This record gives sequence, structure tokens and C-alpha cells, in this order.
Amino acid sequence: MASFEDDIDVPDPSLMNVVEQDSLKWIFVGGKGGVGKTTTSCCLSIQLAKKRNKVLIVSTDPAHNLSDAFCQKFGRDPMLVDGFDNLYVMEIDANADMDKIQGEMSAAAGDDEQSVLQSLMGDLTSSIPGIDEAMSFSELMKQVQTMDYDTIVFDTAPTGHTLRLLSFPTIMEKALGKIMDLKDKFGGMLSSMSGLMGGGAGTGPNGESPTDMMLGKLEETREIINKVNTMFQDPTVTTFVCVCIPEFLSIFETERLVQELSKFGIDSHNVVINQVLFPEKDAEELAEWFEEEKGKLSKEAREICSKMMARKKMQDKYIGQCFDLYGDDFHIVLQPLLDHEVRGVEKLTDFSETLVNPVDLEVD
Ligand SMILES: Nc1ncnc2c1ncn2[C@@H]1O[C@H](COP(=O)(O)OP(=O)(O)OP(=O)(O)O)[C@@H](O)[C@H]1O
Ligand SMILES: [Mg+2]
Repeated sequence: MASFEDDIDVPDPSLMNVVEQDSLKWIFVGGKGGVGKTTTSCCLSIQLAKKRNKVLIVSTDPAHNLSDAFCQKFGRDPMLVDGFDNLYVMEIDANADMDKIQGEMSAAAGDDEQSVLQSLMGDLTSSIPGIDEAMSFSELMKQVQTMDYDTIVFDTAPTGHTLRLLSFPTIMEKALGKIMDLKDKFGGMLSSMSGLMGGGAGTGPNGESPTDMMLGKLEETREIINKVNTMFQDPTVTTFVCVCIPEFLSIFETERLVQELSKFGIDSHNVVINQVLFPEKDAEELAEWFEEEKGKLSKEAREICSKMMARKKMQDKYIGQCFDLYGDDFHIVLQPLLDHEVRGVEKLTDFSETLVNPVDLEVD
């Protein structure tokens, strides 16, 4: 059989390496939209929960689908998955977090500073795309770092979004630059404005002006984000699992993702190819089987089989490309296309087995 794995020494086709690397604290799961990121995050976490004391899955995707996958409603605070005593889920909403941050600063400010703070915040979010996500992510990291999870799995939003996470430090520099400029240009005016409105020289918790309060918050955020990024660039604690399906656009986007991750110094050495038709067989084998059997099939059954085999042939081409690109360095795991959705703890648990005990690819 013409196997995808020609070299016996290639990394084994399983995510067991991730499960067994005890030092891993942060695991990102990412890829193009709809390829199976959430399913893979849940399945990997189920396997991790067998070996670790406490595992958390976090969704940073505004279109939260962890609740859909587990058929259980989750929210901003970590909640146990039904049937587990050590697997938790939380779903983050960047907009709600921004409202909370603004609310906290407003509460600390005097009544008159609140409108200045609000317009500063509005100005920042409209002129610096991603600042809301960066601040929300920093709040999340501040929170989860104080919790005692062994491993945190991020079910990320589709690729474009994921890569924004890597640019948070740059976004923070821009935001700080902008507020500093405002302070230089309008500093006197901003404090006299709040003075005129009756607020005195500044009524933050330490008597500082709204611009200084905002600068303080941004500096705190920058510090967290820089610390976190250093952690994310340490392969002993962080890795990124890329998920794709065997189609041109998905493979293309995976390559972009792998390149970007490597540019940012983030480790990735696992690719999950999901929704594979008959992963245990290749197109040639199926074609031989079809030749032998087609005489016994009705016209309609032959048509269905032919369509399926054309699809399988296309999948094999892209799976082959994946092995050519990553086979030497990455664990490549083929996940079968099931004939049902992978929803609910039972189905996810079953499916999680193929991540660590994959189908046996024959090797010539
Ligand atoms: N191997 C599979 N076989 C059958 N159905 C699958 C398989 N993998 C995932 N699915 C189903 O496909 C749908 C999309 O999967 P999933 O939500 O995991 O993708 P995603 O990459 O997280 O999507 P999004 O980009 O929208 O977040 C879900 O309904 C899931 O149950
Ligand atoms: Mg998803």
C-alpha cells in the first residue's frame, strides 16, 4: 500500500506526546473555521483530564461553541463539565470584559472623570483594532494564573483571530503611545476640564487624572501581556495544535499558521487532519475494492461510491501534501469523518480515543 508514512522514524501519529508532556501548561488549538477546533479541544482535554489533576478549557471565540459541543451551558466563570470532577470550561466575551474594565475604572473615578474616561476608552477601541481583545485576554490571564489548573487548553477562534493574539504586545504599545500623545497634547486641558466639571485635579483612587488612570491600566495590561508572551514562547510550557481538514484552503491556511507561529517563536509540532474518509485505507485500495465489487452494485450505488472515491482521492492528495510538509517534524493525526456530529460527553470521549490511539496506518 502507498502509505502516507514512508519513513519509519517519523513522529508517531498521535497526540499522546501532548498528553504525556507533564510540563505543558498552555495548549492552543487552532485552525480555519469549522474544521474541528472545538471538537479537538474537548477531546484533547478529556484525555488530559485522565492524567492531570485539574484541566480547564477556555474559549476565546466570541461564537462560543464549547457549550454546544458538551451540550451544557457555560459562562465567564469556570464550570465543571457534567460527569467529570477535574475538567472545567469557561467562555470569554471580550465585549463584556471591556464593559467590566470600564465599569471598574469609572467606579474608581469621580463622577466627572467618568465621561472623559468613557470617551478615552471609546477612542481607543475605535482607533486601535484588537485593543478590546488584548485587554480582555489580559484580564483572563490575570485570573487563570491565580487558579490551580495543571493545564489550560485554549479553543481559539478561526486563524485570523488566533494570530491577532500574537500581536497583542504591538497593540498595547500602540495604545500606550496614543494615550501618551493625548496626555502630551491635551493633558492640561483634560485636567482643567474635569476641574471645571467640579472634579478637582483628578479623582482616581490616588487622585490621578483620567489619562493617568488609563495609562496605569494599559501599563498593567502591557506587563501581563509581555509576561504571558514570554511564557507562550517557551516550548516546555506552551504548544499549539493545528487542526485542518484535507482540502486545499485548509492546508494552505495551516501552512500560514505554522509559519506565523514559528515567526513568533511559538512551538507547534502536532497537526490534526480531521474529517478524513476511511483513514485506515487509501484511495488506491478503495479503487481496487470497487473494481471487484462494482458488478454487484446497482447503478445508484455505483454513483454514490464513485463520488465518495473521488472525494477520497482528493483528500489523499492533501493528506500526502501534509506529510510532505510536516511529516518529518510533526505528529500528524488523522481523525475519521463520522456519520454523526460529535456532541455530548459520550461521543466526545469516544472520539478522543482516536486522538491518542489512532487508526493504524500501514507502512510499506
Ligand atoms: N470528524 C468529524 N466527523 C463528523 N463531524 C464532525 C467531525 N469533527 C467535527 N464535526 C462536527 O463538525 C462541526 C464543526 O466542528 P467544530 O465545532 O469542532 O469546528 P470548529 O473548527 O471549532 O468551528 P468554528 O470555526 O466555527 O469554531 C460540529 O458540529 C462537529 O460536531
Ligand atoms: Mg469552534
